[in-house]
Amino acid sequence: MKHFLEIGQLSCEDVSRLLSRANDFKTQNNFPKMTGLALANLFYEPSTRTRVSFEMAAKNLDIRVVNMDLAQSSASKGEMIEDTIHTLHAMGIHLFVIRHNQNGLPQAMVGTFRSGIHIINAGDGTHEHPSQALIDLMTILQHKPNLQQLKVVIVGNVLHSRVANSLQELCALMGIGKLVLVAPEIWYPQTLPLHGTVTSSLQEGLKDADVVVALRVQKERLHADERLDLPIYHAEYAITNTSLAWAKPDVMVMHPGPMNRGIEIDSDVADGRCSYILEQVKNGVFMRMAILEALTLNRSE
Ligand code: NCD
Repeated sequence: MKHFLEIGQLSCEDVSRLLSRANDFKTQNNFPKMTGLALANLFYEPSTRTRVSFEMAAKNLDIRVVNMDLAQSSASKGEMIEDTIHTLHAMGIHLFVIRHNQNGLPQAMVGTFRSGIHIINAGDGTHEHPSQALIDLMTILQHKPNLQQLKVVIVGNVLHSRVANSLQELCALMGIGKLVLVAPEIWYPQTLPLHGTVTSSLQEGLKDADVVVALRVQKERLHADERLDLPIYHAEYAITNTSLAWAKPDVMVMHPGPMNRGIEIDSDVADGRCSYILEQVKNGVFMRMAILEALTLNRSE
C-alpha cells in the first residue's frame, strides 16, 4: 500500500490484515522500530484526536513527527499543498497525514508525487475518513465479532459526515448484517447507502440495534438554508437512556468525537455502561500504527 486514501482502495484481505496488526499492537508493547522515517501532520481543519492519534502511533513506531502550524506556515502565503509536501519531503519527511476541507483533494494530488512520498487521508471535506471507519470496525468486532449478524445504526448528520461515508462503505465491504442510517430529511444522504436503508424515525432505526454510532451535529457544515432547532433535534434524534431502550440491552454506543453533549448524545449515555467512545479513541492509536506499518513495509526508497 503506497497511500491510504479511501475505503474503496481496500480489499477484505487488506482490512483483515490491518485489523489483525492493530489487535497485535493492542496486546503487545514491544513495537517494531521504524527509525529513520519522519511524518508530518498537515491539518488544514481543526482536530484533536485524529492528529494526536497519528502522532502517538508514529512515536510508538519510532517515527519522528513534525506538527505543522499551518496558520504560521507558507500556506498562509498561498503556497499550494503539493509544494508544501515536496518541500517537506526534500527535508527528509516521508509520511504526510492530511486533513483538508476539499473533497477528493488527497486522491487528486497523489499522481503528482515522487515514489518516496506516502499520503494518508485524515478526512477530506464531507467525503471520507477511512482511518476512523477502521477504528470503529475494530471496536465493534472486539465485542461483537459476528458482523454478518449485527444491526449497525448511524444517527445524525449523514449528509455531511465523512465518518458515515467511510463506515458505510467498510460495513458493506465486510458484509454487515444490517445497516440503517437515521437522519432528519434535511440530512438524508444524496445516494442510498450501499447495503443499507435510511429512515427519519429514530425508534425504527434503533429497534434491536447492536451498535449505534452517533454523529456530531456539525454546526460548521450546516448550509444557510438548513434551519435546525437544537432542542427539537435533541427531542427527536438524541441518543439518551430513553431512546436507547429501543435497542438491544447490550447495545454498543459509539461516537467519533468531538461530542456535543446534550445535543446528539446525553452525558448519561456518553459516560454510561454502553459507551465505547474512549475505547474507540484508544484503538485509534493501534489502528493508525497498523496503517503506518502497511505504508512503509517494502518501501522502495
Ligand atoms: C470527525 C471528523 O473530523 O471528521 N472527528 C474525528 O476525526 N474523530 C467527526 C466530526 O468532526 O464531526
